[in-house]
Amino acid sequence: MMKIYRAHDYQDMSRKAANILSAQIIIKPDCVLGLATGSTPIGIYAQLVAWYNKNDLDFAKVKTVNLDEYVGLPASNEQSYHYFMNENLFSKVNIKRTNVHIPSGIATDMELECMEYENIIDELGGIDMQLLGMGPNGHIGFNEPGSCFTRKTHIVDLAESTIEANKRFFDDVSMVPRKAITMGIGTIMKAKKILMVVDGEKKAKVLKRALTGEVTPEIPASILQLHPDFTLVADDAALSLMNVE
Ligand code: F6R
Repeated sequence: MMKIYRAHDYQDMSRKAANILSAQIIIKPDCVLGLATGSTPIGIYAQLVAWYNKNDLDFAKVKTVNLDEYVGLPASNEQSYHYFMNENLFSKVNIKRTNVHIPSGIATDMELECMEYENIIDELGGIDMQLLGMGPNGHIGFNEPGSCFTRKTHIVDLAESTIEANKRFFDDVSMVPRKAITMGIGTIMKAKKILMVVDGEKKAKVLKRALTGEVTPEIPASILQLHPDFTLVADDAALSLMNVE
């Protein structure tokens, strides 16, 4: 079943999505959260940190698995997703470092890293709630258009459009890594609940295609139509082409 929550703007989207994540933490304090990076969830993490600071949230038993990481970037690199997660969430709440999992982009054997990452998720008992953003080309995680829906954690070549979209974080487009390690769509779809957040007019067209069009690997997010517990929180701009209350 798909639930859609409309938000007025980025702030409202962040608050609504943070509410859903914090409800998950409150009903199951030792839950496994799947987390995402990128611009969209920054406001969510800021809200969770604010509630933690007010003593309304406790991360002591929470476990996390992140979606993806650039190949070649160590955790000390400011553009790495390890760095991002530390900056935006992990260093600001009482989560245990041993409960935090992010695929490594610098493992000597990346194929082994992919297998081990899948094993970690299985050993944790699977993901209770997976947070997703969506790329301007409809990607989820770094599963680019054309990705097979059944894949597990694997190495991908980033689409040119993704390299373009993400260059804003780097000094120069040539600095953007060409490869990433990502949970596959098969991994993502196994999550018990999925929460996707989308904002901005520039994603309105692809969001409409993903949620109301054909389910096709050309729009990776379209698979979410088939997930049994999928929630979207999006702002007015992103929903502007859809008829949603
Ligand atoms: C990030 C990730 C990506 C982003 C997507 C949207 O971990 O897996 O799929 O969610 O590229 O990025 P933003 O939010 O920057 O538009």
